[in-house]
Amino acid sequence: MSLLTELSVLVGSAFAAVGVDASLGSVVVSQRPDLAQFQCNGAMAGAKQLGKPPRDLADEVAKRVESDPRIRAVEVAGPGFLNIHVTDELLAQWMTSTAGDEHLGLYQSNDPMMVIVDYGGPNVAKDLHVGHLRPHVIGESLKRVYRAAGHDAKGDIHLGDFGLPMGQLIAAIAESHPDLPYFDEAATGPFPKESPVTVEDLQVLYPEASGRSKAEPEFQAKAQQATVELQAGRAGYVALWEHFRSVTLESLRAIYARLGVNFDLWLGEASTGDRLEPLVELLQERGVAVESEGAIVIHVTTDEDKKALPPLMLRNSRGGSTYATTDLATIQERVEEFHARAIVYIVDLRQSLHFEQVFRAARLGGIADDSVQLIHAGNGTVNGPDGKPFKTRDGGLPRLSGLLDETVALARTRLDENELALELPDDERDEVIRLVGMAALKYGELSNHRTTNYSFDIERFTQLQGKTGPYLQYVAVRAQSILNRAAEQGLEPGTFLPPSNDKERTLILSLLAWPEVVERTLETLSPNVIAEYTYELATAFNQFYDACHIMREADAAVQASWLGLVSVSRLVLVRALDLLTIEVPDRM
Ligand code: ARG
Repeated sequence: MSLLTELSVLVGSAFAAVGVDASLGSVVVSQRPDLAQFQCNGAMAGAKQLGKPPRDLADEVAKRVESDPRIRAVEVAGPGFLNIHVTDELLAQWMTSTAGDEHLGLYQSNDPMMVIVDYGGPNVAKDLHVGHLRPHVIGESLKRVYRAAGHDAKGDIHLGDFGLPMGQLIAAIAESHPDLPYFDEAATGPFPKESPVTVEDLQVLYPEASGRSKAEPEFQAKAQQATVELQAGRAGYVALWEHFRSVTLESLRAIYARLGVNFDLWLGEASTGDRLEPLVELLQERGVAVESEGAIVIHVTTDEDKKALPPLMLRNSRGGSTYATTDLATIQERVEEFHARAIVYIVDLRQSLHFEQVFRAARLGGIADDSVQLIHAGNGTVNGPDGKPFKTRDGGLPRLSGLLDETVALARTRLDENELALELPDDERDEVIRLVGMAALKYGELSNHRTTNYSFDIERFTQLQGKTGPYLQYVAVRAQSILNRAAEQGLEPGTFLPPSNDKERTLILSLLAWPEVVERTLETLSPNVIAEYTYELATAFNQFYDACHIMREADAAVQASWLGLVSVSRLVLVRALDLLTIEVPDRM
């Protein structure tokens, strides 16, 4: 339970007592903290139910609520808003229970589900670019948020390792290095352990091959043929393709280690290989998949669609599977093997049509029934600081690894400018710089709503003041150093006393709002809700710290209570940042 729930129950029963729905008693944090701590707007709807003037109903409810010993005051404002203030004793009680709760007050689902979060989706042979930052960071964050709410969430990289690009690479290497053993049709292996190509080779080869595929029909035909044979399991092609995958994965793992992104499942499009045939057959048997001009498709459009959706292509006329086929088979795998009850895709919004088709096909085909939520939590794109699509000078997309380098270099400059982390040993200092750089990137990313396009402005993101990741890290580190200094003098956090000034109250109210912040993040699937909150909390903390001179306080009980507030503030801030995938250094 949270303070807000407790208040909603209280106000709800007052509504019920006067004869309207208890659900109208839902209490929220006040939008106008200068006027009230909490607010309830149910009287207007309740008055309609009763055919009564709203202010009269609000007055009646206010009287009932006010008689409760936990309530300091209730005022009726405007057309019938209830402005609620709670007693300082109640705030102290809630601080005590929050501090004693390992989840810091977060709701733990009483119906935990297996959630597969599908994010990142990098492709074999392609380098990560700035656009990949979004799905990786948002996905990693949402996975942690599900876990914080008591669900069992797994992150799956869903590697793009299956389609025509693989055939294009094979066809290109077959031309340039025909003597390699992989191209001997009769060869069954073993094949060389060493990869004939590096990831850098692939990154050059792939755009070339894909360009040729568009320009040269003959090359295109070879690439298509190689794709079909690869998918059918031709030994040499499979061996070569495994090299493509492993060199790509190796370079991905290196960048993920820097970024702090972890996957539980390293599956991909190709992991569904064995399911594709039987799936297509099953869907045909069920009458869902049908032949159309030599291909097999699923018609997903309904009468309700204003504009018809194109049919989903399950198998093209050359017998090949598509991106939609592997995604459908992946849903089947996630339901059958992992018993997923929710599958959440953090993928560019430009793929909305694809997911709509796949989800409809999954429902029609009985691959996932209504007990499985299928959610495309799409992300917007990243623009340059000028608000235009982010491009390098040669028109390409900036590489993610280069951006990480730049950010870390700038983080170093910022720490120097602010004379921070100067006394640390070199290796610890380097690690702090890396963490600050990552915090800059990630907070810059996550402080935007998932669906909006935002401007990548590394100058601003790396600032140590304002709404930035480094600033929030700094506040958390400072809270720790306050506790350390107190401990050196033998002072420890103690029992929470009722707050005695407004800065203290504001901080407590902010801390007690944390459970609803996580709830709202799960509703919107947008971590910007948490990002926003961390800044509010940090602001409330700083104002409290400026107003309440902890180390100079003469009353030991007050001092211990304040240290308790510092401690819980730090815990909540560190936890919130962790859900944003931001790590806080021990010192800086
Ligand atoms: N590899 C895909 C791409 O680059 C993204 C994969 C997203 N996940 C999925 N299940 N389709 O567009």
